[in-house]
Amino acid sequence: MSQAFTSVKEQEEHLLCRSYSRYPLAVARGKGARLQDVDGKEYVDLLAGIAVAALGHCHGELCEAVSAASRELWHVSNLFYQQPQLDLARLLLSTTHHGKAFFCNSGAEANEACIKLARRYMRKVKQRDACEIISLSGCFHGRTLAALAVTKRESLSDGFGPLPEGFKQAAAGDLRALREAVTPATAAVLIEVVQGEGGIVPLEADYLRGVEALCREKDILFMCDEVQCGMCRTGKFWAFQNFGLKPDVISVAKALANGLPMGAMLATDEAAKGFVAGSHATTFGGGALTSAVAAKTVEIMLRDHLDDRAAALGGRLKRQLEDLQRRLPGKIREVRGLGLMIGIELVEDGQKIWQDMLREGYICNLCQGTTLRLLPPLIIDQTDLDGFVRTLEKLLR
Ligand SMILES: Cc1ncc(COP(=O)(O)O)c(C=O)c1O
Repeated sequence: MSQAFTSVKEQEEHLLCRSYSRYPLAVARGKGARLQDVDGKEYVDLLAGIAVAALGHCHGELCEAVSAASRELWHVSNLFYQQPQLDLARLLLSTTHHGKAFFCNSGAEANEACIKLARRYMRKVKQRDACEIISLSGCFHGRTLAALAVTKRESLSDGFGPLPEGFKQAAAGDLRALREAVTPATAAVLIEVVQGEGGIVPLEADYLRGVEALCREKDILFMCDEVQCGMCRTGKFWAFQNFGLKPDVISVAKALANGLPMGAMLATDEAAKGFVAGSHATTFGGGALTSAVAAKTVEIMLRDHLDDRAAALGGRLKRQLEDLQRRLPGKIREVRGLGLMIGIELVEDGQKIWQDMLREGYICNLCQGTTLRLLPPLIIDQTDLDGFVRTLEKLLR
């Protein structure tokens, strides 16, 4: 451990709440898909701030957008009309069938907005006393109390109870279990098309279509959490678009402003009737500065066809990894994913490989103990992905 790293680590121990277990790496700066630590060592970033820096670090046009917006207007609150929020909404809604946006600050908040909208829509618009939200096993929807309640993972909610009521879970992939879970008290089903924190688990196309059809049959809302899998990552602008789905409501965050905190809920015009003035609010949501940066992010994603790029690079990477799995079946159990959202499930505990990859200069994430999770910037070079595969093979052998 270098002196520079030790100094950062020691300061943190005095200053911050113990709520994170950090990687042994103190990052000083970033450019594109590369990060540099406090000792000047360079890394290929295959995590992008957990699917946030989709355009890479310190993207030139975004730096200019921040700078220009910072001289116009930062924040006035949602008491006022302001154009940057509308410009962002127009651009974002142009990518989807949804008609209305609500802006907030994070993925958990976007899911809170979805949950509140679903409940209020059922009660006030449909005149049904339906408040239950059904999620799927293996999901992750955030760390606020309602997001924990919908996520239903003991290890995350330990010590935090009581959690809000009205949340149920069905086994992912099992349509019959979902059908049995739906009752007259159900307001909505909330799913991730590709489960991210659960270890990159794409749900089957037939199952996804079955979930949507069940929601239509039961006249309940179909909601997709696109916080991690949205915004070009899976090869379409939105992950649900890979399967021709039309969710009533989606939650968005992470890549939306490429690193500035910003979340959103997008709803169809019909579902959006669940909110009226005063129903829901947040001080910072859709602030002028973050909106300007998010609008530029979306503009670049559309202009540079980053959905197609994610599909092409991710498809090639997945084939390379599947090939590696065929050659090393005793080391790799499964390669899963869509676009540039890929999980490599190892046969044995992944801690050592993950650490060795970091030492070799490749940053990825280990989830569920055995899965290496790759969420690289969508602008990453082919050569960096090839280097990752070569290094992984070397270490596995
Ligand atoms: C699918 C999904 N939903 C929600 C969240 C929570 O987002 P945030 O950490 O911005 O609250 C995450 C975070 O990892 C996520 O992956």
